[in-house]
Amino acid sequence: YTMVVSAGGTQEPMDPVRVVTNRSSGKMGFAVAEAGRDRGAKVVLVTAPTAIPDPIGVDVRRISNAHEMQDAVLLACKSADVLIMAAAVADYHPSSVTAQKRKSSSQRWLVEMVKNPDILREAPPHLVKVGFAAETENLQEAATAKLLAKHLDLIVANDVTDPTGGFGSDNNKVLIVDRDGTTEELPLMSKYAVA
Ligand code: CTP
Repeated sequence: YTMVVSAGGTQEPMDPVRVVTNRSSGKMGFAVAEAGRDRGAKVVLVTAPTAIPDPIGVDVRRISNAHEMQDAVLLACKSADVLIMAAAVADYHPSSVTAQKRKSSSQRWLVEMVKNPDILREAPPHLVKVGFAAETENLQEAATAKLLAKHLDLIVANDVTDPTGGFGSDNNKVLIVDRDGTTEELPLMSKYAVA
């Protein structure tokens, strides 16, 4: 099988030096890529900027913003069977990017944000699709709603307010929901074990 995996938090530029991003470390997506490789899959990993080096035996494609991630994911999906979106794709990007660095002379900087494409929702239907859901409340309901809205086969939900797992941690505590509504609550374990 060929798997496309996404990882990391996309960076949406404001000017040549500033970006809007999120707290994703990329660790969960990299763990999914390694687990897929270890089970014999051909893996393409599309990742936003992260501190993690390229895993051996994985085709790594480094991008920065959500539009670049969409282009790279859709290209890789043409010859893939499975898409696992572990990336924290920015939902919005600043509406205008200045060519020059903005000076710090004014007291306010109002930034207008525009919606990004939903990569998972727009992915081709032939793929087995797995989503991740980072939630702060009503974990199961929110994850199930995303599974249905994005036509997924599986969704992996985690409570990002839980200090033992989630952003930056080597461990994660997740709830996995499939299309039949079957739910599996896993205990805290390494991100590789979750993968
Ligand atoms: N995702 C995506 N493209 C986006 C946003 C999210 O492909 N523009 C994917 C993520 O990689 C993840 C899943 O969709 O696998 C759920 O992401 P999330 O941001 O939690 O979902 P949203 O639909 O953006 O919902 P919310 O309103 O909670 O932000």
